[in-house]
Amino acid sequence: MSDEKVLIGIIGGSGLYALDHLTVLSTVNPSTPWGHPSAPITIAALPSGTRIAFLARHGQGHTIPPSAVPSRANIAALKSLGVAAIIAFSAVGSLREEISPGSFALPSQIIDRTKGVRASSFFEDTSVVAHAMFGDPFSGKLAGWLAPRIQGALDEEGKGKKLFTDKTIVCMEGPAFSTRAESVMYRQWGGDLINMSVLPEAKLAREAELSYVMIAMATDYDSWRVDSSAVTAHDVFQTLHDNSATAKLVLSKILDELQGELSGGKHGEALLQEKGGMKFSIM
Ligand code: ADE
Repeated sequence: MSDEKVLIGIIGGSGLYALDHLTVLSTVNPSTPWGHPSAPITIAALPSGTRIAFLARHGQGHTIPPSAVPSRANIAALKSLGVAAIIAFSAVGSLREEISPGSFALPSQIIDRTKGVRASSFFEDTSVVAHAMFGDPFSGKLAGWLAPRIQGALDEEGKGKKLFTDKTIVCMEGPAFSTRAESVMYRQWGGDLINMSVLPEAKLAREAELSYVMIAMATDYDSWRVDSSAVTAHDVFQTLHDNSATAKLVLSKILDELQGELSGGKHGEALLQEKGGMKFSIM
């Protein structure tokens, strides 16, 4: 591996365990103060030479449940490679009729329904008191830059898939899915999507001053539809395969341009708006 930093990190969720058509340059397994990442990180190059770091959130053979993902090690390991912007993928349930399974979404807000069992700050057990700004939990500039490009790739794919933007994602503690009553309640709260993975990942990315967006891929309607059966893992896995092929297509269309922006392009500074953000957060 050359010493040149890798600026773009991709975190793959359920169904997205590797990327195709890339030249693998190396595999690294950084040791961080919070342990090793979920899986060794693949450093790979596109035909143009653009290099990315890819990490499978649940491990290569999907062995790590959402509540046990070593998110602090994952974010610290990506940062140690020079990553400045993370595009995270996740399978999600849809809480809205119009967001049909197969749809993609860029959430802009999060409702936390994790149950306090996940280590969610780099500052835990330290003498530093820090409160990261988290009112806007995703990088709005990066999401705004990505949105038309993702929709363009979906249009090009020609399967009629839609991208939804500005959605609210509920992050629940698994491993069981929600009850019907909870699913209905999340809709009343304003939730549009539900997963088990966006937290604490997004919080830690913010503390690490990394731009972070999630590309949510709807696999099911969760359990709020009265006349439909409640979501099962089988429903989720049926849509995953097709979603992951679409995710790979989307990435193949955007990564070169994103690399150009991040390495001195005209939107580069805006896309890395989180850099330096923690200077207002330490007490
Ligand atoms: N991931 C995919 N579908 C989900 C659902 N319905 N609830 C929570 N996490 C999910």
